[in-house]
Amino acid sequence: MTQIRSWNGREYLTADEVAQLFSVEEFEPLAKERLLPSNYNYVSGWAGTGATARANRDAFWRHVILTRPLVDVSSVSLATTVLGRAVELPVLCGPSGYQRLSHPDGELATARASLRVGTTMVLSTSSNYSLEEVGAIAQDPWYQLYWFTDEGVTRDMIGRAAANGYRALVLTVDAPTKVWREGEMRDPPEVPEGIVSANVPDIPLTIAPNLTWSSLAWLRDIAPSIKLVLKGILTAEDARLAVEHGVDAVIVSNHGGRTLDWTIPTLDALPEVVEAVDGRLEVYLDGGVRRGSDVFKALALGARAVLLGRPIAYGLATGGEEGVVRYLHLVRGELRTLVGLAGATAIDGIDRSMVARLGEEIAG
Ligand SMILES: Cc1cc2nc3c(=O)[nH]c(=O)nc-3n(C[C@H](O)[C@H](O)[C@H](O)COP(=O)(O)O)c2cc1C
Repeated sequence: MTQIRSWNGREYLTADEVAQLFSVEEFEPLAKERLLPSNYNYVSGWAGTGATARANRDAFWRHVILTRPLVDVSSVSLATTVLGRAVELPVLCGPSGYQRLSHPDGELATARASLRVGTTMVLSTSSNYSLEEVGAIAQDPWYQLYWFTDEGVTRDMIGRAAANGYRALVLTVDAPTKVWREGEMRDPPEVPEGIVSANVPDIPLTIAPNLTWSSLAWLRDIAPSIKLVLKGILTAEDARLAVEHGVDAVIVSNHGGRTLDWTIPTLDALPEVVEAVDGRLEVYLDGGVRRGSDVFKALALGARAVLLGRPIAYGLATGGEEGVVRYLHLVRGELRTLVGLAGATAIDGIDRSMVARLGEEIAG
């Protein structure tokens, strides 16, 4: 069998080899060895000083899990629903562009992996396989939308997503202007011949800097039946506006610290968003989620499910589809263990009483 090699000529790990990885931290160094250096820089990178990216992780370290002993946990289920669709674990593959830089199968591998693990994925506007190709594999995927100043291109993507079985449009609202990433300015990503942004025509496109809340009605008019999710909500005020505008879900996200530097870590922003929406729409979270324990903490603070950004790219660059499946299995395994240890038997049994912020509730 011909071994597929990475862009720098290294072999990807096989299914047997990824089965020897037991902690999620092992993936990034293996991925780094297989990515072109400038592309590792792109995937792992951040805006400005990197304060937001770091703070996202730090927020998880500041929260601890409290247990409720003497509960019958002989059976634990991680099953839940996302936008009305059943999934086997509360973890989705989040949208990240240019996945073929990590593995030749790119988004197709992510789609197959999410299917195998019983979850779904969000396809980026900037994907290297088209929304039609990915839609043919993934089950009820969501489509992440960058709204371009070219209205025709934007309208075309929305129509195609609706026609190809996408359950939701995930409008990214935290990147209305050009981003400031010094690492990428110094050493831009290297895109090998033949890798293209597959959903859009090969013309210069600009993300609309003038999008406002009133623009959402236009989107609703074009695709009335598809669900609408806003990605990049961080405050109670904006969460309430999302409710008022009939949005179906929000993702508490700061783009993994890749857009606005020095903004609030997502885990710290989550409780006020959850409180503000008061069950009127679904709340998701991404940013710094790496392990099962992170998923537990986000769920305890009110997230319905979480999304993974960089870990998907690291899984792909380690072992393609097998790498992503293994990563998700490790997250699922740890999560299932923690749910039982904490004294819950199902996802909806995880609540606010099971997590505390170090130095506050505990010390107080
Ligand atoms: C390489 C890369 C590309 C990304 N591309 C997109 C994108 O096209 N659209 C989008 O909304 N978010 C994009 N994101 C942001 C992710 O969806 C997500 O918000 C973020 O990565 C979550 O943080 P994490 O990487 O710490 O998990 C990208 C992230 C990475 C790492």
